[in-house]
Amino acid sequence: MRRPINTSRLLVIVCSYQLSIEQILKMIVFIGILILAFFNGASCAGERPVDEAVLRTLEGSPTAAIFERELAKDIIFNTVFHFLTAVVGVTIGSGGRLVSATAATFPALVKTGVSMNYAYVEPCGLVAPHIHPRAASMIIAINTTFLAGYWVENATAPVINTLQPGDATVFPQGSVHFEFNMGCEPGVFIAARSSEDPGSYTATGFISRFPPAIVAATLGYPEGGLDSFIKGLPDFPSKNVKECLLKCKKAT
Ligand SMILES: *[C@@H]1O[C@H](CO)[C@@H](O)[C@H](O)[C@H]1NC(C)=O
Ligand SMILES: *[C@@H]1O[C@H](CO)[C@@H](O)[C@H](O)[C@H]1NC(C)=O
Repeated sequence: MRRPINTSRLLVIVCSYQLSIEQILKMIVFIGILILAFFNGASCAGERPVDEAVLRTLEGSPTAAIFERELAKDIIFNTVFHFLTAVVGVTIGSGGRLVSATAATFPALVKTGVSMNYAYVEPCGLVAPHIHPRAASMIIAINTTFLAGYWVENATAPVINTLQPGDATVFPQGSVHFEFNMGCEPGVFIAARSSEDPGSYTATGFISRFPPAIVAATLGYPEGGLDSFIKGLPDFPSKNVKECLLKCKKAT
């Protein structure tokens, strides 16, 4: 049997714990924060890691209806990616901040065959030569001039273009390519990819990963000096294209 709520009894309980008004207010604030945190759970993709189990379920959905039902379980997080507040899929270096919305960071991309990158590049910032093994990339310069180049294979010449704001170019799948902010102000470019899981690695990444003897032989560099050479390698994206830095120093 349910007992009717007896306010005097509640008061007794509160009093017997000797809660001050201040403590009660603190509790209310605390509960409020918990409620807010709960609704914040409805954060956007990019703001917290994706549960791998969700990705597996989406990938395994046999019909579009089942796929959509899975997405709907956390609709905002699963279908809205926020590039500016993202903390996952983010690569930060002295030359800028790259944010990747891929299937790994944005559930709605599973099985779509597309993904996107937002790149904020510092003045003279260089997104050094790198490769996406599973996607072609189409990039558009938004508000500064970028030098963009790619190279497809040994038998071809590299293609290097200067992109003014509004210009776009394409990097074929598997090509090694770079983007360089030639300006003395920060700039943004956006890259669309032809795979939800494009993959990425820097062209020089092997230097710190393959056996030193192989690396030294490849570079024609003394094996003994490799350690300090590797420690001296720039970050990614980097900011050390000397002639640009000199030009911008003169310009300001
Ligand atoms: C690639 O091109 C260079 C320069 O033309 C040549 O020396 C080298 O043998 C080529 N390598 C391969 C793997 O084809
Ligand atoms: C380009 O856009 C970014 C991000 O909004 C901004 O920080 C930057 O100052 C802009 N650059 C120019 C040259 O307008």
